[in-house]
Amino acid sequence: MLLILVVVLFVVGTSVASPVVENQSRPQVLSYEMDTGNMPNSYNFHYNTSDGSSRTEEGNMINTGMGAPALDVLGAVRWFDEKGNQYEMTYKAGKRGYRTIIKKIS
Ligand SMILES: *[C@@H]1O[C@H](CO)[C@@H](O)[C@H](O)[C@H]1NC(C)=O
Ligand SMILES: *[C@@H]1O[C@H](CO)[C@@H](O)[C@H](O)[C@H]1NC(C)=O
Repeated sequence: MLLILVVVLFVVGTSVASPVVENQSRPQVLSYEMDTGNMPNSYNFHYNTSDGSSRTEEGNMINTGMGAPALDVLGAVRWFDEKGNQYEMTYKAGKRGYRTIIKKIS
């Protein structure tokens, strides 16, 4: 969960640090969906906002067969920079640690 928080802070940080847009009103959340019906075994959520950013994530409890099950998380965050380029960062957290990939998608 700490790692997920770091991701959120990173994304918020990039938009706050944008020096070009000065008086920018806070982006509105356009859509927010969360499915916790299968907790604690799995969950997923998705949201997007008026500044074009979005986030989607799913988590699954993986039964390792040894001891406690481990949470496996897969997610993606998309955002635009001040030049209008869109980026996507995908992240994966689980037994094998934490991995992110950032790519420019438009
Ligand atoms: C930003 O712009 C809006 C509309 O022009 C104005 O009402 C508001 O006071 C401004 N906010 C800041 C922090 O300058
Ligand atoms: C936000 O997400 C909703 C539901 O997935 C989708 O219908 C809508 O087109 C999205 N809006 C933007 C601006 O991406």
